[in-house]
Amino acid sequence: MTRTVYVNGKYLPENEATVSIFDRGFLFADGVYEVTSVLDGKLIDFDGHARRLARSMGELGMRNPIATEDLLEVHRELVRANGIVEGLIYLQITRGAAADRDFAYPSEDTPPTIVLFTQNKPGIADSPMAKTGIKVISIEDQRWARRDIKTVQLLYPSMGKMMAKAAGCDDAWMVEDGAVTEGTSNNAYIVKGGKIITRHLSDDILHGITRAAVLRFAREAQMEVEERAFTVAEAQDSDEAFFTSASAFVMPVVELDGAAIGTGAPGPVAIRLREIYLDESRKVAI
Ligand code: PDD
Repeated sequence: MTRTVYVNGKYLPENEATVSIFDRGFLFADGVYEVTSVLDGKLIDFDGHARRLARSMGELGMRNPIATEDLLEVHRELVRANGIVEGLIYLQITRGAAADRDFAYPSEDTPPTIVLFTQNKPGIADSPMAKTGIKVISIEDQRWARRDIKTVQLLYPSMGKMMAKAAGCDDAWMVEDGAVTEGTSNNAYIVKGGKIITRHLSDDILHGITRAAVLRFAREAQMEVEERAFTVAEAQDSDEAFFTSASAFVMPVVELDGAAIGTGAPGPVAIRLREIYLDESRKVAI
C-alpha cells in the first residue's frame, strides 16, 4: 500500500514526496525528530513529544515552523489517511535547504523542512519480545555530548544495533566513564531489591517521554525509584532489567554481555510497568 506522507504543508503519496539535496538534514544532520506511538488509532503522549520537539529546536536555535495544534492535526490526518490502528508516527524537522552547502546556518528566512510519515505496526502492544525479553551487549558511548537534544545524527546508534546483531543480541547499552548512559534508542533501567534504578537526567541522555510517564506510574504504584547512574556489573547482578521507548513501551532485558539477569526471564516489575503504562496511556490517548 502506498502511504500518504506529509511534506512541508502537503499530503502526498510517499513516492511523490521529495526533499532538496541541499537540505541541511541530509548534508549536516541538522535536524530534530520525534517518534510517537499510536494505539487504538490514537496518539500516545502527544503533548510530551510536542514539548520535547520545541525544546530540541530551541536548543539548536531552529525556527519552529508549526503550531502544536496544527502538528496534532497533521498527526491525526496521517493516522486517518493510512488507517493506522497500532503503529508509529515519525516526524522530522530540519533547518531547511540553503542555496548551497555551507557549514554556517542559512539566513533566518530559510523555511525549515518538515516531514511526517506513519509506520504501520499491528501487534506492537502485544509484542512477543515483551514476553521473552531481549538480550543486550554493552558498548562504549561514542556519541556527541548533547544527547538531550533529539537530533537525527543516529549513525552511532545504528552502528550499536549492528554490533548487537553481530553478537547475536537485540540491542546495545552504551557505557561512559564506567556507567550505562542509555540504550541505542531507549532509556535503561535495573531493579534491585524492589527498587527501580535509572540514570538521572542530564545532557548525557535523552529525556525519554516514556521514561517520564513510567516513573510517574511507578511512584503512583508506591514503587521505589532511584535516579542515578549504574554500572554494567551492577546491572548483571540486578534482579531484573528493562528499557523504555515510545516504540517499544516497557521492554524486559534478560541478558547483558552474555550474563543472565535475575532468573533470565522478564521480571515482575517490568511486566507490571508495561501493563500499567499501556493501560494508563490508552486511557488518555488523543
Ligand atoms: N528513540 N534514548 C534514546 C537515545 C532514544 O533514541 C529514545 C527514543 C529514547 C526513549 O525516548 P522516548 O521514550 O521519548 O521514545 C531514549 C526513538 C523511539 C527512536 O529513535 O525510534
